Amino acid sequence: MTDRPATPGEAPRSHGRLSIRASASPRSLMDGPPQVKGAWEARVVTLFPEAFPGTLGLSLTGRALEAGLWRLATFALRDFGEGRHRKVDDRPAGGGAGLVLRADVVDRALAAAAEGAPEDPARWPVIYLSPRGRPFRQEDAARLAAAEGVTLLCGRFEGVDERVLEARAVEELSLGDFVLSGGEIAAQAVIDACLRLVPGVLGNPQSTAEESFADGLLEFPHYTRPAVWQGREIPPVLMSGDHAAVARWRREAAEALTRARRPDLWEAYLRRRDPG
Ligand SMILES: C[S@@+](CC[C@H](N)C(=O)[O-])C[C@H]1O[C@@H](n2cnc3c(N)ncnc32)[C@H](O)[C@@H]1O
Repeated sequence: MTDRPATPGEAPRSHGRLSIRASASPRSLMDGPPQVKGAWEARVVTLFPEAFPGTLGLSLTGRALEAGLWRLATFALRDFGEGRHRKVDDRPAGGGAGLVLRADVVDRALAAAAEGAPEDPARWPVIYLSPRGRPFRQEDAARLAAAEGVTLLCGRFEGVDERVLEARAVEELSLGDFVLSGGEIAAQAVIDACLRLVPGVLGNPQSTAEESFADGLLEFPHYTRPAVWQGREIPPVLMSGDHAAVARWRREAAEALTRARRPDLWEAYLRRRDPG
């Protein structure tokens, strides 16, 4: 729960208006709309809680957050730091540039984020966003969205002391083969991809059913008015009103795009389509 009783120095920040304590008094229940039971929840451990909800607070995901259709809680690493200065990092063992987030600090933050969440990683995955993780794919988004919630650990500096990742069997996922300055952008990307699959967040579930990767193919090209722009026409079949022909054209376009741009996806698609 986002609204576990906070112990001194641990202050999860809840970004949904509906994060009322389970033990809320009648007065506080009157202050906001009732909590949506079983709403999908993202808990983010970060040095920069002010980065959230960020883009997640906009448009459909923002409105769904306001409506309590999903919940967001941030756990500020600084709150779990050591000593008067709440130190969260130290120099890398063995020397070298940069700083590493301390295992004990990260462990305390993850322990706080784990309160009230199921221990089973299938029900509540705990993920470290990391360039050396397994690439995050649409099937991961589907898996995380089907869980009750997810805890995301955002690294900074050189990353996180390996021991806490091992001790807590944290899964590592990467946004791609590039290096970001911190995990916050990656966490927002992962949450956003999941939210598109959380029932009720998107107005039209059909749009996710037809999106890239939904059936192993990249999506077909889109067009809208004007019918002719800078001498370029919309493919006439899309204006024909023949739904079967439109579906055929889109399928073929999706296949051609995937074959040209993503041979890896194309091979996998062919294997699934023609097994054996
Ligand atoms: C500067 S990076 C650390 C890079 C690390 N020293 C390395 O070479 O693998 C700081 C943090 O940004 C996040 N990050 C960077 N690139 C990422 C990526 N491609 N996917 C997910 N998270 C990333 C991670 O949380 C990482 O701990």
